[in-house]
Amino acid sequence: VESATGMTWTGASKRIFETPRVIDSNKGMYGHVLLVGGAAGKAGAPSMASLAALRAGAGLVTAAVPKSILSTVALITPELMTTPLEEDASGAVALMNASPERLEKLLKKISVIAVGPGIGTEGEASAFVRQLVASTDLPLVIDADGLNAFKGQASLLKDASRGGARTIVLTPHPGEMATLLGMTTKEVQAERLNLARKFAQEHGVTLVLKGWRTLVAHPNGDVAVNTTGNPSMAKGGSGDILTGIVAACLAQEKSNVRDAVNAAVYLHGLAADFAAHRMDEHTVLATDTVAHLSDAFRYRT
Ligand code: APR
Ligand code: MG
Repeated sequence: VESATGMTWTGASKRIFETPRVIDSNKGMYGHVLLVGGAAGKAGAPSMASLAALRAGAGLVTAAVPKSILSTVALITPELMTTPLEEDASGAVALMNASPERLEKLLKKISVIAVGPGIGTEGEASAFVRQLVASTDLPLVIDADGLNAFKGQASLLKDASRGGARTIVLTPHPGEMATLLGMTTKEVQAERLNLARKFAQEHGVTLVLKGWRTLVAHPNGDVAVNTTGNPSMAKGGSGDILTGIVAACLAQEKSNVRDAVNAAVYLHGLAADFAAHRMDEHTVLATDTVAHLSDAFRYRT
């Protein structure tokens, strides 16, 4: 359903994931997602994002997390690879991880970076995020405190996207969007569509403004409205798994950012709809939604 106003819905894009995988394909064709996040006491967010990226079809997923939580994150599933980040005394990611030598090692053979889940704003974590974003040309998904690192400095995101020439996907909830814009959450919610579209256009990014009827604003001004999802998702972890799904979809559809992000948002909500159908909605966990991704991929729109 496309109108003259550039409004679409996310479901149409899901078709790119309805064709079977190429028979003689190998993991290299489905991309390598690097999930950067975590802090002491925040092992769950990068774990869930990584798990979701694996389930959503990425060829390889590596979680880069502070070394004190590395073994915890690794336990989420044995398919996940991990790589340690140096941390400060509080257990936050240290800025030294963003030195050119360390970044070169960290980003070798990576096709998409997702940064933010559980990274916090302690110590040098935000400075690390800003440095990472500025130091690579790889496609990037930024979520949670990865977004809060740009509080009052949203122009850095515009610089990083080089006018939309580079893929940057932001996945703020309304509170994070408010922080980016220096507004209140209430003001954001009253003007969701226009704010999302304007931000995406002005910064050359894909902006996923979450919440009931998530909006996906594209750098060209088009906005897709998501029709899937339900209140079972109003629980910690739901956003983290979206980050992993978006990164995995981008890794598989590098040249088709628009469909990849629309489809990811649609699949995320649809998986939760399946979960809430089979389980009572009060009881659904984000990991249950991940477990229903298969139903979402198989569903024919
Ligand atoms: N209907 C449809 N979708 C919903 C609904 C709803 N009623 N409620 C939530 N969702 C979806 C959102 O669209 C989004 O995709 O669930 C996801 C929630 O994402 P977040 O708000 O980022 O939640 P999450 O990250 O899991 O947990 C909150 O984020 O910013 C941090 O400090 C915050 O630790 C907290 C964490
Ligand atoms: Mg979140």
